Amino acid sequence: MDDIKKRAIQVLNKNWRDGFTIPCEGLYPFQWKWDSGFIAIGLAHFNLERAKNEISTLLDAQWENGFIPHIVFHNDSDSYFPGPDFHRSYLHPKASKKYRSTGLTQPPVLGFVLQKLYQIAKDKENVLKFIKSNIDKVYANHLYFYANRDPNKEGLVYIYHNWESGTDNSPMWDEIINTMDSPEYTFERRDTSHVDPEQRPSKREYDHYLHILEIAKNHKYNDKKIAQLSPFLVQDPLFNSMLIKSNEALIDLYRLIGDENEKINTLKSWQTKAIKQFNDKLFDKELGAYIHFNLRSEKPIRMISSSSFTPLFANIPSEERADILIDTLMKRFGTKDQYLCASFDPTNEFYNPKKYWRGPVWINLNWILYHGLKNYRYLEIAGRIKKDSIELIDKFGFYEYFDPDKKRSIENEHGYGGENFSWTAALILDMLNEKT
Ligand code: GLC
Repeated sequence: MDDIKKRAIQVLNKNWRDGFTIPCEGLYPFQWKWDSGFIAIGLAHFNLERAKNEISTLLDAQWENGFIPHIVFHNDSDSYFPGPDFHRSYLHPKASKKYRSTGLTQPPVLGFVLQKLYQIAKDKENVLKFIKSNIDKVYANHLYFYANRDPNKEGLVYIYHNWESGTDNSPMWDEIINTMDSPEYTFERRDTSHVDPEQRPSKREYDHYLHILEIAKNHKYNDKKIAQLSPFLVQDPLFNSMLIKSNEALIDLYRLIGDENEKINTLKSWQTKAIKQFNDKLFDKELGAYIHFNLRSEKPIRMISSSSFTPLFANIPSEERADILIDTLMKRFGTKDQYLCASFDPTNEFYNPKKYWRGPVWINLNWILYHGLKNYRYLEIAGRIKKDSIELIDKFGFYEYFDPDKKRSIENEHGYGGENFSWTAALILDMLNEKT
């Protein structure tokens, strides 16, 4: 175990740039929002100052309206497409003047990340000071979501692009993406020169991804216009679970720092509404799992992915519902020949164990599920997720994603996507430091 810890620290050291950590050399050469959050958790185990630096750099790129972008382009790199010249975040009047970024966001992890830093750090005074000076920025980010991403005032926020979900190429998005009538764009992909094209999305899929962005850019990334016009408008259980978990963390942290303010009441009212609506709208009784909802067509997307189980992390289901959820998880994802946890339902026809978010195991989702299962005292399954994560990394390395099929994984002797991937390193470090 000590050897994995040592290697994890090496990966994080190698990927550190001046003030932030890249997710992966070559493939992802900038700062990504939810990566940074997960990375900071790992950093806190051996270098609190750097963990704080990671988060402050990200927050420094926050827009005046509270929005935090999904990529901050700190440097010029031609190894990535689409870069800053395509995204042109400055079109939005409230965009950061200091940093170039995208006009997309990613799951709101920062609330619970701040709380994790507090739990991990030995120097509590030091981290409390940091929390005091940053907590309002995270709150402002949540305020942005509820004010701008919830047009029907339901307590659930939408994402307008698959790249906002974090689970970029999931079959969840197929129907929306494949029925779009996008023009053919001319561009040069960079990802496929780093990773086998078999493990990445197709050119036509990229056309659609760019097309959604063109619509947003044509309207200067105006949220109201996006809500009216974007062909992609989805309430995602993973994204909303992260927001709800972060709301909970902010309530605890405001109390901890002795700042009993109005914000706690607002956070509490968001929580009550969000959790109720989440359970009423996003639980599919027949499937026994939480699902995505297509807000554009007003129809549920009735498929299961690892995102379907993330509400456990945010204490959303009742105990009874958690039992149902875990039954679904174990029947479909948890048979003996599989590593936990595939990112998409292995019994579904669109499952692909090699391709990006269409099946492979991702360590950040494993980390979320591990904690979710512990919340509900499913300690044995939580233990299995931890054991599987350690085994995958120990046997194959710090990959971006892994084949859930045990036999094939062992035959291949490697994972998929990028190598020396930062959140894989950061989160295994965190799991290894947990007692159970
Ligand atoms: C991929 C993932 C996304 C992640 C990014 C950087 O695009 O789908 O979740 O944030 O890589 O690691």
